[in-house]
Amino acid sequence: MGPSFNEFPHVFSPIDLGPVQLKNRIQFSPTVSAHCERVSGEVTPSMVAYIGAQARSGAGLVTIGSSPVNHDEGRDFLGCLSVVRDTDVPGLGNLAKEAHIYGAKISAELIHAGRIANPIALKGQPAWVCSLSDDLAPNREYHVVTKADLQKVIADFVAAARRLKQAGFDMLMIHGAHGNLVSSFLSPVFNTRTDEYGGSLNNRMRFQLELLEAVRAEIGPDMGIEYRISSWEYKDGSPSVEDIAAFLKEAGKYINLVNLSGGLICDLSLVQFMMPSYLVARNINVERTARIRELIDTPVAAVGNIPDIYAAEEIVATGKADIVAMARNMVADIELPKKAWRGQADRIKPCLHCNLCITTPGLGQPVRCSVSPTRGRELQFEHIAKADKPGRVMVIGGGPAGMQAAQIATLRGHKVDLYEAEGELGGRLREASAMWCKDYFRRYLKWSIRETEECGATIHLNTKVTPELIEAEKPDFVVLAIGADHIVPKIPGIDGENVINVTEADLRLKPVGKRVVFCGAGLSATEAGIDLAHEEGCEVTLIDMLPANMLMREIPFENSGALKDWMKKLDIKLIDEAKVCSIGDGYVEYERNGEVARIECDTVVTSFGLKPDAKVVDELRYVVPDTVVVGDANEARNIYWANHDAFNQVVWL
Ligand SMILES: Cc1cc2nc3c(=O)[nH]c(=O)nc-3n(C[C@H](O)[C@H](O)[C@H](O)COP(=O)(O)OP(=O)(O)OC[C@H]3O[C@@H](n4cnc5c(N)ncnc54)[C@H](O)[C@@H]3O)c2cc1C
Ligand SMILES: Cc1cc2nc3c(=O)[nH]c(=O)nc-3n(C[C@H](O)[C@H](O)[C@H](O)COP(=O)(O)O)c2cc1C
Ligand code: SF4
Repeated sequence: MGPSFNEFPHVFSPIDLGPVQLKNRIQFSPTVSAHCERVSGEVTPSMVAYIGAQARSGAGLVTIGSSPVNHDEGRDFLGCLSVVRDTDVPGLGNLAKEAHIYGAKISAELIHAGRIANPIALKGQPAWVCSLSDDLAPNREYHVVTKADLQKVIADFVAAARRLKQAGFDMLMIHGAHGNLVSSFLSPVFNTRTDEYGGSLNNRMRFQLELLEAVRAEIGPDMGIEYRISSWEYKDGSPSVEDIAAFLKEAGKYINLVNLSGGLICDLSLVQFMMPSYLVARNINVERTARIRELIDTPVAAVGNIPDIYAAEEIVATGKADIVAMARNMVADIELPKKAWRGQADRIKPCLHCNLCITTPGLGQPVRCSVSPTRGRELQFEHIAKADKPGRVMVIGGGPAGMQAAQIATLRGHKVDLYEAEGELGGRLREASAMWCKDYFRRYLKWSIRETEECGATIHLNTKVTPELIEAEKPDFVVLAIGADHIVPKIPGIDGENVINVTEADLRLKPVGKRVVFCGAGLSATEAGIDLAHEEGCEVTLIDMLPANMLMREIPFENSGALKDWMKKLDIKLIDEAKVCSIGDGYVEYERNGEVARIECDTVVTSFGLKPDAKVVDELRYVVPDTVVVGDANEARNIYWANHDAFNQVVWL
């Protein structure tokens, strides 16, 4: 019998995994957070704080991300958790104790990175691979592992497992997914060995089973083992659901939980399925997980683009998985399980699935989140302190930056008045949310508006702030969050009837014809173009001055693969290294390689980027001494920066 105060009886029922009992079926899926000491990987106070926050979230199981069993050949991230020295045990013990305080069970993901080993960590040595395959990077060197190497890898896993056990960990995860060394053995695409570790399915699972047997022998029966595997690697010839189930059935002798992910990190076009963004299918691995669950006896965890706690409940209730693992939903709102438990699921801050959280750990810097500026900074901002001298704060602008500012300023005890020129809150988050598949953004918009309306600030809509109004109100602090304007270059014909800007296209504020040319091919143009092609059947062409390989450099490659796939599917054309020189009635002219060409179209969409209006910003910023300029008004960027900029400034007011 579940509690009466929430709607999630299945998710909040305990589960017995044999050696480990979990209080509920929510797993914090492994996230490498890069909080450990950069080179040594030693546990730091900020790592303890990060794990403490994950454990306090209310999740039953917290699994620490990538923890290489060997730093010379097997390491993927800098700042990852070290399990390679006996001297690591006390630090690991601190993590285990921290998790246990809050009733969570703790696990760590052991990895040999193989072909995805970090070149900095390899220090010029070749990366270890199962065998040579066509898709290996031509500019890197590889070493095909010998049988002696495999014994060394097993010994490294065993030693790491022993250290985790000594430290009091409840479980460990063997990382056999996404194309790392262990995972590559099962795949006929990556494993073309001719010895007893290649060829037949039995041979392709031999190494993993030897590894599991050795780890189990070392840790004994009273510690849990999870095995992470991609339920589909998205390559022709990748292991089928049946092959994966056959392997897991054998592995069942040693393991207590299977975590069924998807995709490959070693292939930039397929990492979109490992970190599925808003552009990719929801519940992406769930059906395969359910099929595998039917074929094996070990409990399974479903993971990957599970939209929310309602979907999680449905997955467990319908028997598709025993556990639901989530990463980004809980990075975005660390209180997700707690709020769901309390019956406040509507208060959970929605994750955008924008994937900016994975970019900093990739650089060896702590995890950050677009919508939660405190994520990864738990040590510094565990609590938002009250202001020493609460005052009157005037927030100008009700976009993401202004809304964040109002929420934090009220939390600090200030009296806040937020002014928005338009009739509703949201700013450019509205157009950023328009694309048909950006339901995560629309949820976040709705959540932000509600939180702002209820945070205690007085909201003045339809009120454009002037210097005179600031003078009249005499606030102690001003937060200038007025956003930025579209750049309109002096191109002949740009003011024509057939020309609209990307905001107008996104929000369908003006009619859009069948043949559409975008001038500028950044993220907003690309997404608006995809949306027009998908929703309205438009024929879309993008023109940009930059070469194609530079255009998506700001976009996480977890998302760019999906954008490219959509462009291909919808036949969206890109004309790169081209300068728009004039727009006429029914055409755009551009110069490419010294030649002028013309493309016929019905509508031209300008998308040359945004820029703050320096004159207006200056008029408003010098009225009150304690004025901060935040978000796009400071520099036109994105939702991540709007939130971080506003938080970082306002948390000190
Ligand atoms: C088409 C498009 C798509 C985008 N897509 C994405 C995306 O997918 N992901 C992403 O991260 N970012 C995206 N962005 C960028 C993102 O929307 C902005 O970076 C973000 O909205 C900036 O927030 P802000 O609060 O600083 O400014 P804004 O959102 O511009 O909000 C400023 C607010 O201030 C108000 N205002 C202006 N002057 C005054 C005044 N004098 N008095 C009172 N109010 C005033 C405005 O009406 C507005 O509501 C997109 C932008 C565009 C244009
Ligand atoms: C910041 C971050 C770090 C991650 N690090 C790891 C990792 O170290 N090992 C791993 O197997 N998966 C890692 N993942 C993938 C997640 O475990 C999870 O499979 C993926 O995010 C999809 O689940 P979600 O849709 O619930 O986020 C990471 C994800 C995020 C967001
Ligand atoms: S950075 Fe984006 S994807 Fe990652 S947790 Fe935050 S909102 Fe979600």
